[in-house]
Amino acid sequence: MSGNGKESAQEKFAALGDEGRGRLAVVIGGATGIGEATCEVLSERGWLLVVADINRDAAAITAKRLGGHAQWLDTTKPETVEAAAQEIEDAHGPVFAMVMCAAIFQPRRPIDETPLDEWERILRTNVFGTYMANLAFGRRMAAHGEGAMVNLSSWNGIRTTPQHAYAASKAGVNMLTEGMAVEWGRSGVRVNGIMPGFVEVPRVAKQIADGKRYAGHPKDLSALGRIVQPREVGDAISFLISDRAAAITGVNLAVDTGTLVAPSWSMFGGSPAARPRSKTQPLPASAKLPAMTGR
Ligand SMILES: NC(=O)c1ccc[n+]([C@@H]2O[C@H](COP(=O)([O-])OP(=O)(O)OC[C@H]3O[C@@H](n4cnc5c(N)ncnc54)[C@H](O)[C@@H]3O)[C@@H](O)[C@H]2O)c1
Repeated sequence: MSGNGKESAQEKFAALGDEGRGRLAVVIGGATGIGEATCEVLSERGWLLVVADINRDAAAITAKRLGGHAQWLDTTKPETVEAAAQEIEDAHGPVFAMVMCAAIFQPRRPIDETPLDEWERILRTNVFGTYMANLAFGRRMAAHGEGAMVNLSSWNGIRTTPQHAYAASKAGVNMLTEGMAVEWGRSGVRVNGIMPGFVEVPRVAKQIADGKRYAGHPKDLSALGRIVQPREVGDAISFLISDRAAAITGVNLAVDTGTLVAPSWSMFGGSPAARPRSKTQPLPASAKLPAMTGR
């Protein structure tokens, strides 16, 4: 503790360093993107890691880099998810945490040109896949009497966009998370969801740079005026699976730099610009509160 009684950022991160206490965390879809960043954060915080992914090579690379283990599975195929859960427990012991990041996205095109089987593929991967992951790992955690799961949804799960199948799939994930929290709650298993905003993974960075998917820069939609960094999502996930969140279950938490709340301000001129800043004099002495007029 520093002299002023406040915990410094360094002390805070040192304290979080052994948060996992060697417990086993499985990150599905952990090979790339948000899942990979989550694996980084969890490995720094003392979790034993399994990187589970359909992309065998990328999972092996991420696992090797972070000192974890790689596991192949395809969440659209129930038998592979069940087999993976069993293989992981046989090889490494009980799984304490499961993070479900695997999903696929929807190309941007007019509704009349959207193949119907795209719907099935997206719904199967995103909703059925999440259900399978929750079922395979939730049953085992419930049998151990403890555990925590986090399902990746999206801000798109509660706001409509032209990606109808993707948005519907993420609304489904939100509801699954709430249901699973009740399903496993009395067995000691917590289930929460994260709804990221626009996250700067390489795929999104490329889409922003090529200017074809979005009409503007997604940062302009947010209250904070920036998009989310992948590790910031990993940080929220690490909190939700940790003992610090012991009383939190059934919550879908937005990690979106304020993308859900800011767009409605566009009718009123948009989010206010940043106020003038000064470290030495945060608020000018001349600044007064608006007066009560008594009228
Ligand atoms: N990146 C964003 O801006 C953003 C925004 C909102 C929500 N999300 C959500 O966050 C999660 C991660 O997104 P991302 O941007 O990191 O995506 P990504 O494509 O970088 O990573 C997804 C991972 O899932 C794996 N995967 C895909 N299908 C699979 C399957 N059937 N079985 C097993 N693994 C499979 C892929 O190989 C990949 O490693 C997704 O659920 C996504 O919907 C992302």
